[in-house]
Amino acid sequence: MTEPKKKFLAALEGQSFDVPPIWMMRQAGRYLPEYRQVRKEAGSFLDLCYTPDFAVEVTLQPIRRYSFDASILFSDILVIPDALGQDVRFEEGIGPVLKPVTNSKELSALSKDGLLEHLAPVFETVRRLSKELPRETALIGFAGAPWTVATYMVGGRGSPDQAAAKLWAYRAPDEFQVLIDLLIEATGDYLLAQIEAGAEAIQLFDTWAGSLPPAHFERWCVEPVRQIRARLKEAAPHIPVIAFPKGAGPAYADYFKATGVSAVSLDTAIAPEWARDNVQVLGPVQGNLDPLLLVAGGEEMKTAAARILEALGDGPFIFNLGHGIVPQTPPEHVAELLDFIRNFR
Ligand code: CP3
Repeated sequence: MTEPKKKFLAALEGQSFDVPPIWMMRQAGRYLPEYRQVRKEAGSFLDLCYTPDFAVEVTLQPIRRYSFDASILFSDILVIPDALGQDVRFEEGIGPVLKPVTNSKELSALSKDGLLEHLAPVFETVRRLSKELPRETALIGFAGAPWTVATYMVGGRGSPDQAAAKLWAYRAPDEFQVLIDLLIEATGDYLLAQIEAGAEAIQLFDTWAGSLPPAHFERWCVEPVRQIRARLKEAAPHIPVIAFPKGAGPAYADYFKATGVSAVSLDTAIAPEWARDNVQVLGPVQGNLDPLLLVAGGEEMKTAAARILEALGDGPFIFNLGHGIVPQTPPEHVAELLDFIRNFR
């Protein structure tokens, strides 16, 4: 007898449900006391990502608490620069700090040789998760999209305007292309290895997609994701790919068509009715409650969740946030939201 299709994967194939599948970006993290405990034990954040015992445990924590329909591998988008040989650290209260790559010479010091060996613990985490997860829970692998990863590699840390990466891309596009091409290849290798280890769907995070003007958005966000998607489609045709081009605004629709991804994840600013009429007509969508409404909780949160469910619930849809859960989120508000969604119809 064949097992029934997991709800999250069925939604990505175009099925609709009375109660949509639900998961949340950053569902493992500091808002959970049990995460903070393991985080302390692990020492550094990268040690947490590269120690399968710890990474498996923190991936499973939100599944145990909330029975989400999908779990997402615990890792970070910045393991790619780390594996390429860039110096990457995570500092308490600051976030990621990288030794910036700012010219061709520094760029040529990075290499894809040994990438998969360096990331072997991540694949071990995926293998273990695919055995340990409840049978109805899907396993999502992920990576950062090349543009967003490049903004950290060039800027050395998060910045409000991504100025360093933009200026390189504007002043010397052919040089910057070398970095993006390296990331396209490395990301493809990395995701195919996650799939081989047991990832059942892939999400590409392009957090800073919204900061580029249209022609540059096409070159640095759409085209790299199109290439990665095409390579995965060729090598692993049955694995769905979700893209999160945060801040893309009205370009969400063209992005969906041009990249050929299976679904898009909507950010908080997208009106759900607009998404129904312009994006969901192209395929499944995921989103998009403001993570700060989850912090606030109560009626304001429920009203916004109801609007999303009403607009998008009749088509292929996955309930999610418009960006990741923030550390100050009360865990009981997550339970309250899930209860509301699961009893909405
Ligand atoms: O979603 C999940 O539960 C899976 C794990 C995951 C993390 N980061 C864990 C993490 C995923 C999918 C990411 C993606 C990620 N990482 C993105 C794209 C999505 C987004 O949120 O925009 C980006 C831009 C990064 C880079 C990154 N990692 C930043 C800017 C920071 C610092 C900000 C912060 O929240 O501290 C991180 C650190 C990080 N990645 C943490 C977690 C749980 C917190 C670190 C800690 O526990 O000390």
